[in-house]
Amino acid sequence: MFKKNHYQFTNLCLNFKTLSQKAKTRIVMITSSNQGEGKTTIAINLTRQLAEEGKRVLIVDADIDHQDLSIILNAQGRSGFLNLLKENDFSKFELYILNTQIKGLEILPIGNVDSKELSFEYKGLFEYLRMILNHYDYIIFDSSVINNPITRSLVINSDGVILVARQNDTLKRDMLMTKKIVNELGGKTLGWVLNAVK
Ligand SMILES: Nc1ncnc2c1ncn2[C@@H]1O[C@H](COP(=O)(O)OP(=O)(O)OP(=O)(O)O)[C@@H](O)[C@H]1O
Ligand SMILES: [Mg+2]
Repeated sequence: MFKKNHYQFTNLCLNFKTLSQKAKTRIVMITSSNQGEGKTTIAINLTRQLAEEGKRVLIVDADIDHQDLSIILNAQGRSGFLNLLKENDFSKFELYILNTQIKGLEILPIGNVDSKELSFEYKGLFEYLRMILNHYDYIIFDSSVINNPITRSLVINSDGVILVARQNDTLKRDMLMTKKIVNELGGKTLGWVLNAVK
């Protein structure tokens, strides 16, 4: 189910915990410049590592372009993130959360409504997330690319942003542009993860 390079992900987890403690960051989103750079891979492995270390973690599939996270975690077709936004009733949040095979790791699937029908209202969602933060140490969003409007809303509302680049693939120009957009939106970059380092 998961790819894992134990050392690399233990280090990533350690860096993440240090940075997030300093910045009091518990609602985090992961994005990148382009598709296929490793956002979902990093999200799954980071959250698994945190859960294995005893943290309570909720991973949210917020990528309307590619629902890989929900597919990989066997949550495809279930109600989730998009349903909450459509219904605008966040009290249903806990009904849609599923356990995973990893103790301590829960998932909110992407959901099963057409995103075109939605008008996105994030303020209420994030107010609700802060209310349920006593259940979790971290809530981590696996998002689409930075140009996606949902991703941008998540940048604005989350406590911190992890940016992913793929070695020998992501252009420096794209990385600079992505960082600039995050800054302009007022997001707090926790750091870059350089994926697929050989
Ligand atoms: N470090 C790695 N080593 C080997 N394969 C990897 C690595 N990182 C990602 N991949 C593979 O590359 C592909 C894209 O990775 P992933 O789905 O994590 O990227 P993504 O940024 O989430 O993509 P998308 O923009 O489509 O959501 C997947 O098939 C994944 O298994
Ligand atoms: Mg992905």
